Amino acid sequence: MNMHPDCERIMLSEEQLRSRVKEIALQVDKAFEGKRPLVVGILKGSIIFYSDFIRHLSMPVELDFMAVSSYGSGAVSSGKLNIKKDLDKDVQGRDVIIVEDIIDSGFTLANLKALLLERKAQSVTIVTLLDKESRREYDIEPDYNCFMIENEFVIGYGLDYNEQYRHLPYIGILKRSVYEK
Ligand code: IMP
Ligand code: MG
Repeated sequence: MNMHPDCERIMLSEEQLRSRVKEIALQVDKAFEGKRPLVVGILKGSIIFYSDFIRHLSMPVELDFMAVSSYGSGAVSSGKLNIKKDLDKDVQGRDVIIVEDIIDSGFTLANLKALLLERKAQSVTIVTLLDKESRREYDIEPDYNCFMIENEFVIGYGLDYNEQYRHLPYIGILKRSVYEK
């Protein structure tokens, strides 16, 4: 496989992503049998995972999106989630599935889940592609996660560094020299 020169190495290949995403999607599909969930993708990082994930679902689903940002990640998080684009749909009484690229400190998903429950969603289920478990600072866990990863900065398959690399079809570890200059 052609690797981008800014990658240290490939962590998850296209084939690994394809088969694990399918496996998780089928589990979710089964768990929601008879329901009609609202599948919420968190922009922009989840786009590729989201589009692969939903294509394995056989239940009736509705799609919606949100874009959020946290002011200052990690040590200096302000404790407030900034909603850049809100949902089109009303979540009251709905079973909501949040699809997110990665859970790191847990700030984003802890706040999003609380927000959707405050808006009276019937249930909120979190599906993540990646989990950097060792970085968790907030009391939140995904209900479904595709891959546990070490504390490395990763790019590709939707994930970016300064809005670059989202289109790479694999998950790669970004070279330190790229962000340490
Ligand atoms: P949290 O709110 O600290 O859990 O951060 C989650 C967000 O941080 C994700 O939605 C990503 O946008 C970003 N993020 C965390 N780790 C990485 C990474 O290794 N690569 C790219 N983005 C990351
Ligand atoms: Mg994100």
